[in-house]
Amino acid sequence: MNTDKRLGILLVEDNPGDAYLIREILRSIPAADIINAENLEAALDHLKRHAVDIILLDLSLPDSQGLDTVRRVVAQMPMLPIIVLTGLDDDILALDALKAGAQDYMVKGLFEPEMLMRSIRYAMERKMVEEELNRYREHLEELVKERTREIEERNSQLQEEINGRKQAEEEKKGLENQLIQAHKMEALGRFAGGIAHDLNNILYPIIIDTESLLEDAEPGTSMHLMLNQILKAAHRQKDLVKQILSFSRRSDQQFKPMKVVPLITETIDLLRSSLPSHIEIKQSIHAPSESILGDPTQIQQIIMNLCRNAADAIGSQAGTLDVSLANTYLEPSPAHPDMNAGQYLKLIVKDTGHGMTKEVMNRIFEPFYTTKDVDKGSGMGLAVVHGILKHHGGAITVESEQGKGSRFTVYLPITDEKLQTQPPATDRGRSVKEKGEVLLVDDEDMILSSLKNALKRMGYEVVALKDSQEAYEVFLKAPSGFDLVITDLTMPKLSGIELANKLMDIRPDIPVILCTGFNDVIDEDEAKSMGIRELLLKPASTNELKTAISRALENS
Ligand SMILES: Nc1ncnc2c1ncn2[C@@H]1O[C@H](COP(=O)(O)OP(=O)(O)OP(=O)(O)O)[C@@H](O)[C@H]1O
Ligand SMILES: [Mg+2]
Repeated sequence: MNTDKRLGILLVEDNPGDAYLIREILRSIPAADIINAENLEAALDHLKRHAVDIILLDLSLPDSQGLDTVRRVVAQMPMLPIIVLTGLDDDILALDALKAGAQDYMVKGLFEPEMLMRSIRYAMERKMVEEELNRYREHLEELVKERTREIEERNSQLQEEINGRKQAEEEKKGLENQLIQAHKMEALGRFAGGIAHDLNNILYPIIIDTESLLEDAEPGTSMHLMLNQILKAAHRQKDLVKQILSFSRRSDQQFKPMKVVPLITETIDLLRSSLPSHIEIKQSIHAPSESILGDPTQIQQIIMNLCRNAADAIGSQAGTLDVSLANTYLEPSPAHPDMNAGQYLKLIVKDTGHGMTKEVMNRIFEPFYTTKDVDKGSGMGLAVVHGILKHHGGAITVESEQGKGSRFTVYLPITDEKLQTQPPATDRGRSVKEKGEVLLVDDEDMILSSLKNALKRMGYEVVALKDSQEAYEVFLKAPSGFDLVITDLTMPKLSGIELANKLMDIRPDIPVILCTGFNDVIDEDEAKSMGIRELLLKPASTNELKTAISRALENS
């Protein structure tokens, strides 16, 4: 019991005798203020206006009877300790009063003063403990709420983390896939370049020898016919090798500034006349900046290959082929690791054809991958497009859904370089000066003998040598005996360029023709500035050889 302050006791008792007795007992509490209310209304009214520490409550009042009396007090003052005063033998009522919220009960006339005092003390202590428990419970609830809030916050953070990780994982997978694709294409490129080089060296003598034989064969004979067939086949093979090489060729080609819009419109016009009329061709071209550094033939090849594929995918049903060109700015992106950020031309070729599955889409850029019949497609179209774009610093992406169509997007970097005027077209088929002595050097036996043969047929004297060092020594002995040197570029000992330099040191006016393969990286301007008269790309035809010779000799 708090002894610092006075104890407020409200005695609700209508019987003056009982009230008197109880007040007498309570008198022994030194610091107590005892107020007597004779009915419940007066009691409740007092409780509203004054602080009371405990209430002694008779259950039979003039204005309230039994349990109802307890309930009404509890309803108004839930935390006030109540000691119920009951009549004789009313145990059941007393117990119910405890259930209704009273702390204790006394049977009137039967209790000793100490019992009442103890009951008051216990009631107040119980009440205090209850209050303490309540406060503690509220505190606990607050703690639980706070903890729940923290857990929920942490949960949502975790969820965000999980989502972030999932996204990163997906991005990583995408990048890995791109890397695998890029490695695959690079390995295929090296492989293709290797075989193409060898194929060309084999093709060269076939073409030259067949052309020589054709000159001798009587037109109209079966021999002439067959030789023509062989030559045709060889040329087809040469074209194929050219395609393989444009897939694998290294990127150090010298491109010139060129405009893309006229090329696209011309190519679309060309396609209009060659594609069936059930394919509607739409074009939307809005590209104020349209200059790129490139090779027009190769850029045209991109458009042609994409549009042909689109037309094939549309097939015999009605469909639409949409070609659009626009300017776009590319941010640096892991999706295009090889591309610099900057201004690009964005060419989209979209069709309403049969589309592709994911499996097909994963392989379309591989050389020789085709889903078309043997005579319909070689599978080189997109491989070539991919190679060309790589060398132009561009890229290609594809989106497709089976049954819905496909959309190829091509990016080409825009250049600020000014367009140069084209050099005048070269004059072909001029007359060849058919006499003189040629020094011919090539480390490949077959090429050497075919070229020697062809040159002889053109009327030249030929000294044909496999060994470049030996060729130098032969030349050294009689520098003025030769009118022309035709040499291969890639040879053991002295390379074609080294040999040419040495020969020109001895005789600066000696015309030199340098034979190069597709794989040889040589800049034509640079070769010419060194004094080399002509570059001849293997496998050349007899006509190309003649033209090169005539141009080389022209200035001598
Ligand atoms: N627009 C397209 N719609 C649906 N599938 C396409 C489309 N473009 C390409 N493909 C698929 O990609 C494959 C490879 O195309 P690619 O151009 O490299 O070779 P191809 O067209 O089969 O033969 P080629 O171009 O050498 O004549 C095609 O066989 C086809 O399955
Ligand atoms: Mg194709």
